Amino acid sequence: MRFDVFSLLPQVIQPYLEASILQRAIQNNLLEVHIHDIRAWAVDKHHITDDAPFGGGGGMVMKPEPIFSAVEDITGSPPGCPVILLTPQGRTYNQKIAQELAVQPRIALLCGRYEGIDERVREHLVTDEISVGDYVLTGGEIPALLLIDSIARLIPGALGDPDGAMDDSFASGLLEYPHYTRPAEFRGWRVPDVLLSGNHARIERWRRDQSIMRTYKRRPDLLDKLELSKKDSQFLEKLKQSETSENEANSLPDAEE
Ligand SMILES: C[S@@+](CC[C@H](N)C(=O)[O-])C[C@H]1O[C@@H](n2cnc3c(N)ncnc32)[C@H](O)[C@@H]1O
Repeated sequence: MRFDVFSLLPQVIQPYLEASILQRAIQNNLLEVHIHDIRAWAVDKHHITDDAPFGGGGGMVMKPEPIFSAVEDITGSPPGCPVILLTPQGRTYNQKIAQELAVQPRIALLCGRYEGIDERVREHLVTDEISVGDYVLTGGEIPALLLIDSIARLIPGALGDPDGAMDDSFASGLLEYPHYTRPAEFRGWRVPDVLLSGNHARIERWRRDQSIMRTYKRRPDLLDKLELSKKDSQFLEKLKQSETSENEANSLPDAEE
């Protein structure tokens, strides 16, 4: 899979690609990331890529010409792949969108800076707009890396464990179960016995139940969208009942007159 990243600060992107899973995916030819400095497509001798906004107001706006030239030179005119603008005004990124994008052979990512980009880029060049959350960053480079990282781990062969991404939070619609490693006891806190039992069926059931419990407690909204198996539903029902009886036991009796 290939990413073309267009940025005014290309130097902040490269170092992250030189470590761990992304580096290995690149070395194994599973992932290609080409970083393009938009400034190289500026037409004037000072390489100006931004200008003051029409209508006044503070901040600067990224000019349309260098962005169109850069993206069209690299991806074709019209572009031969999705062109995603990173913007706080886009659809909010999640695992489902990562899975949707992971099937693309090539994606162009456009990073804004300053007040953002000239609106004509959004209207006539960009094919999708993605936000990484309801907050504002100084630039689109971290959001671009966030997309590359989350999509790269979905490329078959990118993770050491081929099934590694399948149990991850959100992959199946649930949060993932808790993990433990050696030592089996640390400061008196023991690892749950089931994990030391060697009984794989029991371990699998325990993990599934933990996933359901975590999701129910932390992100109940996720459960509304899921179709649970009979066993899962029974466990969830029991969980809800035990919570109700716990609440009843904890509620104070009415004060006597
Ligand atoms: C300071 S922001 C501009 C924000 C813009 N003035 C607004 O209010 O919508 C500069 C750039 O950072 C990137 N950016 C900031 N927050 C982001 C977010 N939550 N998701 C994706 N990109 C973001 C975008 O590329 C944006 O063009």
